[in-house]
Amino acid sequence: MPETRGEVRAVEWSEPEIARVARWLHSHAGLTFPPNRRESAELGIRRVMGRAGIKSISEFGNRLQRGGALLDDLIAELTIGETFFLREPNQLEFIQREVLPAVPSRDGSCRPIRVWSAGCASGEEPYSLAILLQKTGCLNLARIIGTDLSVARLLTARRGRYRSWSLRGVPKAVINQYFERDGDVFTLSPEIRTAVDFSLLNLAEDVYPSPATGVFGMDVILCRNVLIYFDAPTVAQVAQRLLNTLSDSGWLFLGASDPSLAGMVPCDVVMTGAGIAYRKPGAQRQLFSGAVFSSRPPETAPSDIIRPPFTLPSSPLGPALSAPGSSPDPPLSTPGLPVSARADVERAYNAGDYENVATVARELLQIGEGTEPVSIALVRSLANRGMLEEAVEECAAALLRYSMSAELHYLAGMLQAQGAQHEEAARSARRALYLDPDLTVAHLALAEALARTGDSRAAKTALRSAERLLVAVPAESRVRATDGETAFRLLHIARFRLRSLTFTKA
Ligand SMILES: C[S@@+](CC[C@H](N)C(=O)[O-])C[C@H]1O[C@@H](n2cnc3c(N)ncnc32)[C@H](O)[C@@H]1O
Repeated sequence: MPETRGEVRAVEWSEPEIARVARWLHSHAGLTFPPNRRESAELGIRRVMGRAGIKSISEFGNRLQRGGALLDDLIAELTIGETFFLREPNQLEFIQREVLPAVPSRDGSCRPIRVWSAGCASGEEPYSLAILLQKTGCLNLARIIGTDLSVARLLTARRGRYRSWSLRGVPKAVINQYFERDGDVFTLSPEIRTAVDFSLLNLAEDVYPSPATGVFGMDVILCRNVLIYFDAPTVAQVAQRLLNTLSDSGWLFLGASDPSLAGMVPCDVVMTGAGIAYRKPGAQRQLFSGAVFSSRPPETAPSDIIRPPFTLPSSPLGPALSAPGSSPDPPLSTPGLPVSARADVERAYNAGDYENVATVARELLQIGEGTEPVSIALVRSLANRGMLEEAVEECAAALLRYSMSAELHYLAGMLQAQGAQHEEAARSARRALYLDPDLTVAHLALAEALARTGDSRAAKTALRSAERLLVAVPAESRVRATDGETAFRLLHIARFRLRSLTFTKA
């Protein structure tokens, strides 16, 4: 659907000032404006300024950095929210035919499938995946997440009401089965609507994979028609994070006009009948029809990636490893030992090398040299790889050792939420908050669990508690027990959630 355009009014304009706005948009959201898009971008900026009644670009630049409605209006102007149901049907068919049946559990039975639509706009893409999963009978075991940078689009997505434009090309039988029609408004069936969780996530920020956002260990990621907005360095960073967010057997699909990742980041490039797909290096051990090419960028930085064997210390270890995402303690370097194993765990975790975190953390635990942060890193790494059953087991074992660990109770709750055990998740979050009332992410987790059990009022109370904690710290400070989330972003998420709970039933 074409988006509402505002009136263009005369505004003051200067080249350095507009360049400052462009630089900020690039650093904040990865958005770039090459010469061929520059004119339309400037027109978009003028429109937003006109609507907000702002006459000077420098005032606009300053107000933009506060976020909120002005930034959202600009995002909507500068990016296209164009999307529709069952877009690129060949890709969806490939997912249905080859990917979904290959997602096994450890005992061979079905396990919850985790799917992420990154840059989902108004929701048609993740809802299409929900329809696909419903057809395969796997919907009730699935966790489907839709994220975007635009609050307005996410609110549209949550409502689940569409016009016929969003359904162009969709077979009548599908429309009749999954939508209720009222004139030109098509409302999604509750089964599909409630199967998708929408949240705000800026792909240009280093906030995924992370249990704090529920974005980790994905079996399928669709990030289609989003990378086109980014320059090459941003595409490489985003692509690496997307690959890190895949489970070991997961698949990443881009849109047909998105840039190729081959040669940009280490990955397996899979030529499927429905175009190119990407996997973590070495993931081709899974069965499927298609050719696989292992692709590495020309210049890799092997020193950045920790590889076994790790050095296990023979003498007592130094101070405890700092929890992933927080950095109160300096990296360990016990005199006489080249690198301590705990420091290896921390460095491997920060490098996204979750496989090795698990190896070393388990060895440390086995020889009785584990610590609470090592257990936390182990649980997080397993979860980030999509090994949820193992993560649940390790978390339960860790809680026997560290029953007073607020962060472990919080993680237990996050894992329960992934398995749709929302009442248990709420109990775990409450335990975490009993032990540490200032653990902001536990308030957010509690809110999510309460919203999912239908208690919107209590969910809003928990969100307001999170909001209070977040406004009390500097906007750019890293929030504890996250993988680097800033207070600013979590505040944005909390407020978005508060607004969306007001608009729609969770
Ligand atoms: C063309 S839509 C793609 C919708 C859907 N993926 C599809 O292919 O049909 C592009 C979406 O990317 C989102 N986007 C742009 N930059 C983003 C960023 N930094 N983080 C998250 N989403 C972003 C925009 O808000 C927009 O909704």
